[in-house]
Parts: sequence; structure tokens; C-alpha cells
Amino acid sequence: MADSINDRKTLLISGASSGIGHAVCKRLASSETQVFTVDIECAPPDVEVANHYQADLSVPAEVEKLTRTIRNDIDISSISSLINVAGIPGTKPAEQVFQVNLLTVRFLSRQLAAHMRPGGTIVNVGSISGNNWGQRIDTYKELLALDDAGARVWWQNEMKAVEVDPYTFSKEAVIVWTMLQAGELRGTGLRCNVVSPGPVETPLLPTFRDQIGDERIDWVLHHSGRAAQPDEIAQAIEWLAIGESSWVNGHHLVVDGGYTSGLLSGWVDTENAPEPRVTFVD
Ligand code: NAI
Repeated sequence: MADSINDRKTLLISGASSGIGHAVCKRLASSETQVFTVDIECAPPDVEVANHYQADLSVPAEVEKLTRTIRNDIDISSISSLINVAGIPGTKPAEQVFQVNLLTVRFLSRQLAAHMRPGGTIVNVGSISGNNWGQRIDTYKELLALDDAGARVWWQNEMKAVEVDPYTFSKEAVIVWTMLQAGELRGTGLRCNVVSPGPVETPLLPTFRDQIGDERIDWVLHHSGRAAQPDEIAQAIEWLAIGESSWVNGHHLVVDGGYTSGLLSGWVDTENAPEPRVTFVD
């Protein structure tokens, strides 16, 4: 069924300069799309984009400035998809992880969703680190009921007491946020989904080795067979953003070569699994 957005899709992609975000750009930039990108780094290489915005998504004032600039440059009601890929690992300070991986995603999504037209989509990037979101659902609902300022205060007071490291926390929370936003968007014709990759061959992968330890990463790779290529994650993002996925909403799509299915059905040997290292950076 055709949606009500005109034929030339306008897409805004964060974290576009490297890894998965870059792969999404390469896949989605075409004569039928207009791709706008955001990153702390320069414009993505080898891709023609309509405009690139350089901004530090860990700084709330920069994120607000970015949305004002975008609003001046683009008719944001013409944006058909927002793809929130930018993310940082747990080797970065906990507050930055919380801001980039959760609050900025929520802020950009709400700002744009308020203007996007029916048929529009939002796709977030979680992680299989966030698979156990259900164990802390009440915490996330309490947190996500707060505005950004309140959430930052909550985090400062509570972060040391939460049961998981900040990266895992941010990814569990962004999965729950996606589900909640699907509810916020009821009746608007907009959809919001989250893709959770397992290990992917990007510059982030070595930092995960630092964060949770070589043994644990190698154990995951042993069960999934290999790490994903960035384009294998971009395929799923493309489907949710502009593909034939019109009734898929609020969905947590794990893209990990089957590893999570092994955890759930028992063919992954969890008894002998090396414990992940817990990283907390003040
Ligand atoms: P990457 O490091 O290759 O790409 C991340 C992009 O985000 C970079 O272009 C970086 O410059 C940008 N970025 C980082 N901090 C920023 C900031 N403060 N402001 C603006 N832009 C910023 O990493 P990758 O692997 O492509 O990561 C993309 C997403 O995938 C992240 O959300 C990550 O958590 C998630 N992910 C990655 C996995 C992996 O194994 N690589 C596994 C599971 C999830």
C-alpha cells in the first residue's frame, strides 16, 4: 500500500560518518532520496548527501541548535525518515553515553515526529546488550516519563545504583523508549522501530573488546559464526525505514546472525559463558 509521502524520500541519518550509519547512507542515498546527515565528524565519505551537519550529540545545547538549523534549512514536514544510528561505547564517560544513546535519540525523535507526515518512520539503533530490557521495564518507564532535564538529574542521582553498566542501560532504555514512542505516535500514521545488532565490524568493535573483554566477545562470535558487516545491519534499517514494513511498529528487531535465538532456545551454552567485564567511566 502506498503511503502519503511524496515519491522522493527525505531522510535524516545520525552517526552517518562511520560504520553502520555510513552503510545506511551508502544503501539509501540514491536519485530517489535526499539524504541529510549528522555526525560529530566530517560528512560521510563516498556518498552524495544533500547536506551534512556537524554536531556533538552529547551536548544538549548543540542538539537544540542542530534542530533549529535543520528547521531553517529544510521543511521538516518533508522528512520521511529519521534514522538514529549515532552511539558511543561504555568506554566513554557515563553521562555522555546516557545523553548520546538515549536522550538525544528521544529529543530528535520527538522534535521531528511533531512535524512528520503520515507514512513517516523513525528507526533507532539499540544493541543485543539491551536484550534484557524487560528485567528493568519499570525503571525505564519511570525515567522516560521525565523530561530531559529531569532525566539528567535522575541519572546523576541513580546511575551508580542501577544494576547494569551505562552502555547496557542506555541500550535497554532506547529499546523501551522505541516501544513507548510507538504509543505516543498512535493515530499519527508514523512508525518507530529499533534494530539491535550483535557484534559488527566497525571502529566501535575494538572498544567493545575493551569494554566487556575479549573472552566474552570471542564467545559471542563463536556462537554467531562471525561479526556482521555494517551493510547487513543497514539492510534491516532500510526495510524498517523505507521498505515494505508498513504494519511493523514498536518492534525490537534483533540482527545478530541468530545468537539471541540461541540464548532464548538454549543452543548457546550460557553455563560456560565468560562473564562480561563491567565498565563504568565517570
Ligand atoms: P562507529 O563508531 O563506526 O559509528 C558511530 C558514529 O557515530 C561515528 O560516525 C561517530 O563519529 C558518531 N558519533 C559518535 N559520537 C557522536 C557524537 N557525540 N555526536 C555526533 N556523532 C557522534 O560505530 P557503529 O558500530 O557504526 O555504531 C553505530 C551504532 O550501532 C551505535 O549506536 C552502536 O551502539 C550500535 N551498535 C554497534 C555494534 C558494533 O559491534 N559495532 C553492536 C551493537 C550496537
